[in-house]
Amino acid sequence: MLNFALIGAGRIGKMHAEIINLNPNSKLKFVYDVNQEFAKNVASLSNASVVNKAEEAINSNEIDAVLIASATPTHIEFIKMAAKAGKPVLCEKPIDLDINKVNKCKEELKNIKSPIQIGFNRRFDLSHSKAQQARSKKEIGNLEMIIITSRDPAAPSLDYLNAAGGFFRDTTIHDFDLSRFILGEDPVVQVSAFGENLFDKNAKTAKDFDTAMFILKSKLGVLVHINNSRRAVYGYDQRVEVFGSKGMVISNNQTPNSIERFTSSSTSSKETIHFFFIERYQQAYRDQLESFIEMINSNSKPKVTFEDGRKALIIANAAYESFEKKKIIDISYD
Ligand SMILES: NC(=O)c1ccc[n+]([C@@H]2O[C@H](COP(=O)([O-])OP(=O)(O)OC[C@H]3O[C@@H](n4cnc5c(N)ncnc54)[C@H](O)[C@@H]3O)[C@@H](O)[C@H]2O)c1
Repeated sequence: MLNFALIGAGRIGKMHAEIINLNPNSKLKFVYDVNQEFAKNVASLSNASVVNKAEEAINSNEIDAVLIASATPTHIEFIKMAAKAGKPVLCEKPIDLDINKVNKCKEELKNIKSPIQIGFNRRFDLSHSKAQQARSKKEIGNLEMIIITSRDPAAPSLDYLNAAGGFFRDTTIHDFDLSRFILGEDPVVQVSAFGENLFDKNAKTAKDFDTAMFILKSKLGVLVHINNSRRAVYGYDQRVEVFGSKGMVISNNQTPNSIERFTSSSTSSKETIHFFFIERYQQAYRDQLESFIEMINSNSKPKVTFEDGRKALIIANAAYESFEKKKIIDISYD
């Protein structure tokens, strides 16, 4: 049984608390959040204790692992604290918005053995990972194109936009990582990005985008198309298409059930798709935790590493550069 400390008890922290307690091999012991009310609420739902300082939880002998789900600018501080205390870390994406801080953290922790896993949960989605396997097992022959559609159901608040750090580094970073996951050893070497303001006033006020499109190119010449929107009236639109010389696989949208309706006005209409990430990726979040626990118990390496988090941020930065300079950007991971 692994005892967890949870840092950050907001939207995703609350979900992680539930998942930790649902897993028969883990238990939530301590919760820390600068907002004591949030911490108390999550702790009471999970039979855990609230601590007044992150150090109290992270350094406690009763803790085997740390899950960081606090606001993005706080991740590095807690990653360092946990790694230096010898505690395995599962940290939400992105590691940080500033690549210099990420590089500095990498350098500072280079001799520390404690594993750090980054929360790119989509890699653990059963359908997306089947699509990745179709590529790695050559079921679709030679990979030629990847098409990722990722659209949120509704635009977020202005407060969220002001705090999140921008569409590419906060949201598309999942798709940059998913591209890397499917490409495997073949690195992304170029990016071309467009961002637009088509409908959301808040995005414009926050100097952010509501609509974006990207083309990435891998070293072997595989082309990756990513399209993002902050609003899809029909729900959380998550599709991945992997195309090669011997065919194609599609990881399609999922509905909460598979009922199809036949009435006097329509035939075979399905239920609406899942509302948002917590519903759509519930299985992936659970399997992500399961994989983290297995990694600790078997003393192996995380399936999604700090370096994966760093590389996805480098692609996001290159995408911003492409947008600003209106040109294709070559990517270097140094
Ligand atoms: N993997 C995913 O699908 C996914 C989905 C949503 C959010 N996230 C990531 O999870 C993180 C949290 O996002 P959220 O949507 O839950 O945000 P949120 O605003 O709901 O929660 C963030 C929490 O962090 C707390 N916090 C802020 N500063 C803190 C500090 N110094 N110490 C401790 N707690 C602090 C806040 O009080 C808040 O409760 C972000 O990094 C976000 O990018 C990942």
